[in-house]
Amino acid sequence: MIRTVRAAARRPRPAHTRPDFGMEYSTKSGSPEKQRTGCVVVPVFKGRKLSRPAQALDEAAGGALRQFLKRGDMEGDKGELGWLYELPNTFADRVLLVGCGAEREVTPRVFRDICHRVARALDKSGATEAVSYLSAIEPRHLDQNFLVRQTVLNFEDALYRFEQFKSESERPRKPLRKVVISVARRRDLSSAEQAMREGMGMATGVKVAKDLANLPPNICTPTYLAQQATQLKKTYPRLTVEILEEEDMEALGMGAFLAVARGSAEPAKLIVMRYKADEDPDSKPVVLVGKGITFDTGGISLKPSEKMDEMKFDMGGAASVFGTLVACMDMQLPVHMAGIVAAAENMPDGRASRPGDIVTTLSGQTVEILNTDAEGRLVLCDALTYAGRLEPRVVIDVATLTGACITALGHVASGMLTNQPSLGRELEHAAQAVDDRIWELPLWDDYQEQLKSPFADMANIGGRPAGTITAAAFLSRFTRDYRWAHLDIAGTAWKSGKDKGATGRPVPLLTEYILRTWRESRGEA
Ligand code: BES
Ligand code: MN
Ligand code: ZN
Repeated sequence: MIRTVRAAARRPRPAHTRPDFGMEYSTKSGSPEKQRTGCVVVPVFKGRKLSRPAQALDEAAGGALRQFLKRGDMEGDKGELGWLYELPNTFADRVLLVGCGAEREVTPRVFRDICHRVARALDKSGATEAVSYLSAIEPRHLDQNFLVRQTVLNFEDALYRFEQFKSESERPRKPLRKVVISVARRRDLSSAEQAMREGMGMATGVKVAKDLANLPPNICTPTYLAQQATQLKKTYPRLTVEILEEEDMEALGMGAFLAVARGSAEPAKLIVMRYKADEDPDSKPVVLVGKGITFDTGGISLKPSEKMDEMKFDMGGAASVFGTLVACMDMQLPVHMAGIVAAAENMPDGRASRPGDIVTTLSGQTVEILNTDAEGRLVLCDALTYAGRLEPRVVIDVATLTGACITALGHVASGMLTNQPSLGRELEHAAQAVDDRIWELPLWDDYQEQLKSPFADMANIGGRPAGTITAAAFLSRFTRDYRWAHLDIAGTAWKSGKDKGATGRPVPLLTEYILRTWRESRGEA
């Protein structure tokens, strides 16, 4: 009944799921004036205040930095950059002074903007190697390991390009290749090294998620996603992959999932990936479930054409499940986890589901489909019931589920709803630790009222009010047997406009959450 795709494995396509890490990262402790490198990066704070490494450089170079600031070239405000060349008594080709604003006020957001600017400036500068002293900043609420990890994540984010379909690369001719992250104290080196590795693992996962989500919908089909899962097994032999075909889903009774796929010429796939690398034979998996609508036209409830191209990102949840798995496997975390991807295309067609259709879900509950554009919850409800069969320790689903979530939270925070407050707190802490923010919305029973149907157990929409909550309320009817949280990433999975593209969120959050469950299992705080 459950079998793997053999035909797909025989016809290999380029794998985008395992990027090579282009940049070399390392950590060290040592004073800036002694660095023999292309560029030394040092912070300067508001009011022309030198950071400690900037002071060290200034002293070695006979006050050259102070002089530069005094001339009025820089104030130390957020985002300012100043270049100095061939400072006397130092060994670096260049020094990049980075304005950071008030030191104590540097927030994760400010640090992200600083890193982005620095990474792009370095990449264009001609320096192929840099030693960064950005982790010398001492903000009020952020520790050094946070800064180290975010340096890697932010640099990789800033330098990411999706150029598979460009005839010519737009990368600089002499790009940045090596980043050395300096830490002040020698005794902090090993924890900084660990933070750097975590950053690299997460960045690898983020890149996987971005690449998959950025692919055009004529290439990134459900079949393609299934092939990528099968490909992953080659890089990570401990991964097992099962692909449920439409016949399998039919046999199981996944009427809601199949109703979405009916209108598409692309066959739907339920992709089940398992990774068990812990010692405990009785451990239960953390199960991630991703919405994998490879293109959402809305179906018969057709969407307007404006920005419809962006509905290729409607598999962003699925992409983040792939990315998180890769991040954890890349870090060789000894954890037990599974990823389920509900992959289908939502198209209008003579065979497509109609508003008014009633379908029977895998759980046995019936659903009246009032709007075929509320398809995410239809594929997810069956995937979530299936997740229950894996005896999960916890299930987290990730989905670009509702436009209403953008109305509520914009593009800053992902929406989070849960049937277990303690899980909500754990996710919030993880989100904060990697600056991949979430905000909880209530899942009170009152909202269930909106899903009443005169003809079936429930309708698939709950009307205008609280659209994100009623979508989650719908899903909660399929997750009663386990600890569950839902992440609505409609506003955070991609950016529109001139920087259009996938963000790779919430791979950092999910990876951090799994890292924490692992540390906890080892009895660490
Ligand atoms: N994939 C969309 C949600 C979406 C829309 C995400 C725009 C990001 C940007 C989802 O399948 C959808 O169409 N949801 C509907 C639900 C409605 C019909 C209850 C929506 O949000 O309009
Ligand atoms: Mn839709
Ligand atoms: Zn959708």
